[in-house]
Amino acid sequence: MSPDRHIRNLAVIGFMATGKSTVGRLVARELRFDFVDTDALIESRLRRPIRAVFETEGEAWFRDYERTLVIELAGYDKTVIATGGGLPVYQDNLEQLKRHAYVICLWAAPEAIWRRARRHAHRPLLQTANPLERIEELLAARGPYYRQADMLVETEFRSVNRIVQLITYQFRSVWNPPTVP
Ligand code: S3P
Repeated sequence: MSPDRHIRNLAVIGFMATGKSTVGRLVARELRFDFVDTDALIESRLRRPIRAVFETEGEAWFRDYERTLVIELAGYDKTVIATGGGLPVYQDNLEQLKRHAYVICLWAAPEAIWRRARRHAHRPLLQTANPLERIEELLAARGPYYRQADMLVETEFRSVNRIVQLITYQFRSVWNPPTVP
């Protein structure tokens, strides 16, 4: 691990509907860390759903807003950070996260993602005629970024409890808690 990397937080990245918020919240509870979800933070600060933000301000504006959060997250400590699915793909967001967070990526195949995502209509990027095709395209384009995570966790064939257990165990082995002088 690079010497200028000090792991104080844990970031959960991955495609839409891979369970980042559910898993992140449970891992935070296990570790007794705070929990933050970048989408929820954006919605509470803007007092609008992300879908409305995409409609009025557009995606580029949303990505800039996400970027300001990434800078802010560097000041966090003992926090599990669940990010929006696209966040690690833009600018050097992933590199910035890695400076202070151990990065876990949750993974699932396009069909499984679509099965989970189709129940909800709040994801602006999936409001298209062929959402499964869109998922395949986006996942193919984002794969190289997601694979730069410290740990890739396949979620299709594991229970949520098992995923939480795996991540918690792995994180405890790399976390550098501050030493008392
Ligand atoms: C996005 C994923 C969403 C949200 C926005 C864009 C993406 O978050 O940030 O709709 O680009 O993949 P979830 O991954 O929590 O659905």
